[in-house]
Amino acid sequence: MNERFQHVDQHFALRPNSKMQEVLMDPQAEGPANHYYMIRGGKDQTNITVLEPGTVGGEYIKTYGHYHIGQLDETYKFLSGEGVVLLQKLASDEKGNMIPDMVEEFKAIEVGAGHEPLFIPASYGHLIINTGSTYFTTADDSPVDFEERDPVSLPGHANYELVQRMRGFAFYLVEHEGKPALKINVMYKDVRNAEFGNLPVIS
Ligand SMILES: [Fe+2]
Repeated sequence: MNERFQHVDQHFALRPNSKMQEVLMDPQAEGPANHYYMIRGGKDQTNITVLEPGTVGGEYIKTYGHYHIGQLDETYKFLSGEGVVLLQKLASDEKGNMIPDMVEEFKAIEVGAGHEPLFIPASYGHLIINTGSTYFTTADDSPVDFEERDPVSLPGHANYELVQRMRGFAFYLVEHEGKPALKINVMYKDVRNAEFGNLPVIS
């Protein structure tokens, strides 16, 4: 068999509403059956993410969000549509463990087709959001290991638990007067430094 085709039946996964409810601003809001679709080919073949357009309880459709385990950076390219990337770096305790509810640095970056690739340093949690009326499609270069139990939907290099515990990132991106605006997630105790770009922050 052609080596390239070996894992093709494992490449695709989707993120259902039932899983996303853990990290939504309003978990009970009516959402689409699936929020986004993943095709994972790893570093060589790239990973493609396609997000549905729309809002769920006023919050724009997003990916779950995760931190990388170990020193693993990632670069995103923006293929179609428009959106926002949220990055957050957690504060650490004296042992170097991340503190789930203390954000050292938060960034919201508006992106879309034609935007230059975005480099995400190893220690920054990240998620992407669709703010447009079409699919928002990205390509990234994170690795995949098809020997893992759930390599495409929940890759072993990613920590989802810290995001789950805080019910999302430090800010939700919501539709406000027809446009995107950031809304604080009150589960977090502190956000020390923040860059919001041109996005307004509402209470
Ligand atoms: Fe990642």
